[in-house]
Amino acid sequence: MGRLDHKVAFITGAGAGIARASALAFCKEGAKVAIVEINAEAGRAAERQVRESGGEGIFIETDVTQDDSVKRAVEATVAKFGRIDVLMNCAGGSLQEDVPVHEMDLEVWRRTIAVNLLHPFLVCRHGIPHLIRAGGGVIINMTSHVGLMGSFKPAYAATKGGIIALTKTLAAQYVQHGIRANAIAPGSIRTERQIKRWENKDWMHAENPSPAARERMATQKLYPYSVGDPADVAAIAVFLASDESRMITGTTIAADGGRSSYLKVYVEED
Ligand SMILES: NC(=O)c1ccc[n+]([C@@H]2O[C@H](COP(=O)([O-])OP(=O)(O)OC[C@H]3O[C@@H](n4cnc5c(N)ncnc54)[C@H](O)[C@@H]3O)[C@@H](O)[C@H]2O)c1
Repeated sequence: MGRLDHKVAFITGAGAGIARASALAFCKEGAKVAIVEINAEAGRAAERQVRESGGEGIFIETDVTQDDSVKRAVEATVAKFGRIDVLMNCAGGSLQEDVPVHEMDLEVWRRTIAVNLLHPFLVCRHGIPHLIRAGGGVIINMTSHVGLMGSFKPAYAATKGGIIALTKTLAAQYVQHGIRANAIAPGSIRTERQIKRWENKDWMHAENPSPAARERMATQKLYPYSVGDPADVAAIAVFLASDESRMITGTTIAADGGRSSYLKVYVEED
């Protein structure tokens, strides 16, 4: 028996990274999944992967920043599977052009808000009536450790902080419908996108790193669990989607190796 038997999950951004790993993990536990993704090639490939793993999934080409597109995706999921029990809002990310506010292009701010913050609002707007109809359900929002702390990317940090407050509010407003809402705040997750972005940088190379690179490596060493794989976050999502977490709502689980919880301390070289 799977931990998510008979549940239907609507997962945004599931063509890649954390959301794709979550779609596969959900299916392994018996859920059916809607792969809600803007990139058709990635979405179709994820759908194939789900089927090849013995799961049941459907790719729905969707732009999660557009109200009509999200509405159609929710309707398509219900038409295919008859219900929705889990909304997992995972599409998102930051832009390299997310620079200090007095230098930032307004369009960078707008795009970051749209994909990270408008998107979970739109999914909840169209998805929650179906959770209510199902007699309850679960919302999982994806924030980041920078949402708990602030960062050098103001637009991204603002959206991720906003998600935490939105999650608490959703938990309060829908508790009487049996809906739980929680967020996950990962540290650095080795998705394909992150590997491309970071692992060609000199701080990942042991030989002759720059001073900035040395500092970064030292930081990672001090927070040894702050770098993980998509499957690590998917495991938390499965737990939050399952009835095992029935006492947990309105919270943010930091999966960041303590980066947002305690300051760096001196440790002996080993
Ligand atoms: N990877 C990390 O290190 C990390 C750390 C903290 C938080 N997060 C958060 O976790 C979430 C997932 O990150 P990831 O690294 O797995 O992402 P990713 O870039 O690997 O995958 C994101 C997916 O979302 C899709 N997408 C983008 N815009 C979309 C849109 N408008 N409509 C529909 N789909 C869209 C992309 O095509 C892609 O398939 C994001 O919200 C990110 O901010 C990631």
